[in-house]
Amino acid sequence: MIHLVTGAAGFIGSLLVERLLAGRRRVVGLDCFRDFYDPSLKRTNISASLRDPMFTMVESDLSGSFEQVLRDAIPQGEQVTVYHLAAQAGVRRSWGTRFGDYLRDNVVSTQKLLEWASSSGCVRRFVNASSSSVYGDSPLTPFSETRSLPVPVSPYGVTKLASELLVGLYASRDGIPSVSLRFFTVYGPRQRPDMAFHRFILAVLRGEPIEILGDGSQTRDFTFVSDVVEGLVRAGGSPACGVYNLAGGNGISLLEAVEEIEGAVGSRAELVFRPAQPGDARDTLADTTRLDHDLGWKPGVSLREGIRRETEWIRAAYCL
Ligand code: NAD
Ligand code: UGA
Repeated sequence: MIHLVTGAAGFIGSLLVERLLAGRRRVVGLDCFRDFYDPSLKRTNISASLRDPMFTMVESDLSGSFEQVLRDAIPQGEQVTVYHLAAQAGVRRSWGTRFGDYLRDNVVSTQKLLEWASSSGCVRRFVNASSSSVYGDSPLTPFSETRSLPVPVSPYGVTKLASELLVGLYASRDGIPSVSLRFFTVYGPRQRPDMAFHRFILAVLRGEPIEILGDGSQTRDFTFVSDVVEGLVRAGGSPACGVYNLAGGNGISLLEAVEEIEGAVGSRAELVFRPAQPGDARDTLADTTRLDHDLGWKPGVSLREGIRRETEWIRAAYCL
């Protein structure tokens, strides 16, 4: 069995690759090193895995011609489990002319990968990284896969919902067992530099002000990255199909999270308040009963411990 990870050099993808390799699985990683953030960070993310003989890295763009390179990387007759994490992430910048990037990487690329999965005949299972952003400001909380109507409030959320629907559609046409996991605001070592905790921890360590978008009372169900990776691995190895929430079970406000960051860093944050941004959901909170019931998954890392680990990583990564 080959485990194909798209978005393999990104924040979550690179940690999934390491986890699969630690289990002595054969892994093919695919990424095109988009410059949404500094691609050298992605090269660092994947550098240790490149030394593992069980790992093959393919530098290719899913919105282009990637089929031949995958044929070359995957020996004939091998069965494949796909973990599709490649995407254009970032909620607030998905308006305006940048929407084309989101369509290309989240919708067109997903459809092309699904066509490849179908025509290659080797894919036994398809695991898709979806997002809490599909729920938008859905009034029923905690968000439920079956009872909350997904109504995204950002163009990004629209593209992630489209990707989920495509995955379900191809699964019913081709019969490839497929699952979409809706991740809720993931944090931890390697977190993308545009995300709140990365920006906040770095600013507090440097003694610089942090920007709070809105009044800071918005809440997020923050999820530690190793819990996400655990959910992905379980989803890849189980017969579960359909849509699942994957969230940390924290559900705290941004200002409460800042207090935790102050505790981890050991100094006070200077707050600068800016207007709330269009596209930001007000509150996110997940019902994860389904994932627990079907996959025996529960979050394992507390917010305090997770922030401590991300702070340690940022100190080392920025030599602070
Ligand atoms: P990331 O930007 O660090 O990783 C995504 C990777 O995909 C990048 O390395 C990028 O170069 C690659 N990529 C993008 N388009 C590609 C294409 N067309 N072909 C090949 N590679 C391509 O982001 P992340 O935070 O690790 O997110 C991973 C996945 O999880 C995404 O699907 C994202 O939508 C989803 N997600 C993330 C979060 C979060 O809080 N980080 C929450 C919900 C869902
Ligand atoms: C995150 C990811 O960035 C998305 O890719 C993902 O799909 C989404 O989670 C999800 O759960 O689906 P977001 O919740 O906006 O999106 O995560 P952050 O960028 O960490 O922002 C969290 C909160 O902090 C937001 O309310 C945001 O407005 C706020 N924020 C962010 C600030 O106040 N200041 C900043 O500098 C950055």
